[in-house]
Amino acid sequence: MTSTDWLWILHPALAVVVIYPLLGMVVRLAWSIRRERSAGAGRQHGDLGRWLATAVVLLVLTALTVVIATKEPPDRFAGGPARAAELLLVLLGTLGSLLALWRCRPAAGRLGFALLSWAGVLLLGAQPEVWRLSDDPLSLAFWQSHYWAGVGLTGLMLFSLGAWPEIQRQRRLRRLHVSASVLAALLFSLQGITGTRDLLEIPLSWQKPAVYACDFTAKTCPPPAQGAS
Ligand code: HEM
Ligand code: HEM
Repeated sequence: MTSTDWLWILHPALAVVVIYPLLGMVVRLAWSIRRERSAGAGRQHGDLGRWLATAVVLLVLTALTVVIATKEPPDRFAGGPARAAELLLVLLGTLGSLLALWRCRPAAGRLGFALLSWAGVLLLGAQPEVWRLSDDPLSLAFWQSHYWAGVGLTGLMLFSLGAWPEIQRQRRLRRLHVSASVLAALLFSLQGITGTRDLLEIPLSWQKPAVYACDFTAKTCPPPAQGAS
């Protein structure tokens, strides 16, 4: 394991250690709200839910930053220091919007900062360094893409985070929240599957030259070098 490999582990490790346990608690509390109608469960679910949504955005930003920053060694970064500075600004702007989303009270402001945060994630995700299985919604690969389900899930989380006061008060938004969250729960499961798949497919950094010499469609690799057993 090189330091780059450890950086790549950061995102899956955070998902396993922080996100999924938190998701378990949030879903358990959602169940209690529906069964017992207790005010305590509602408040706890909303509080932990806001942390879950925030953690998901930070998790995705970690993956995108690592992927973009480590694709090439720093001195060969595509676009040079100017592009690196631009992307850093987008990252800082996204983090700023997320913080503002927590602080902001008026509904229009919350909507704006939620959309800005999502736009930041999409902008970083659109960089050529980021691996996306397919960008064509009509292909099967699109629906198996860890990237697209990930940014979709981020959007759903940002919706709940932005609209949580209304979800507490209005029946209509509560219903919308439940539908959005059922979809989100599905995407969380999908991310667990496609994420571990990707982890299995991505070689350690020192193995990359050998593994990427393989033909991924024909599933064949060049014969091992002479002398290797
Ligand atoms: C996948 C995860 C989630 C699931 C399955 C889920 C599900 C639910 C359900 C079933 C309810 C009860 C609705 C009703 O009254 O019938 C609820 C309420 C609520 N949820 Fe979530 N939710 C999730 C994530 C979140 C997140 C990320 C937030 C972020 C802020 C959030 C905030 C709220 C709030 C504020 C309420 C109203 C609670 C109250 O009664 O005061 N939820 N949710
Ligand atoms: C809440 C769940 C998750 C979300 C929203 C999420 C989202 C993302 C996004 C948007 C990317 C960047 C695009 C890409 O390189 O494919 C990514 C990368 C990646 N994800 Fe996830 N992911 C989640 C959970 C997981 C889990 C559970 C694993 C594995 C155990 C995993 C493994 C990976 C790997 C290996 C990468 C490649 C880049 C890296 O490691 O930084 N992800 N994820």
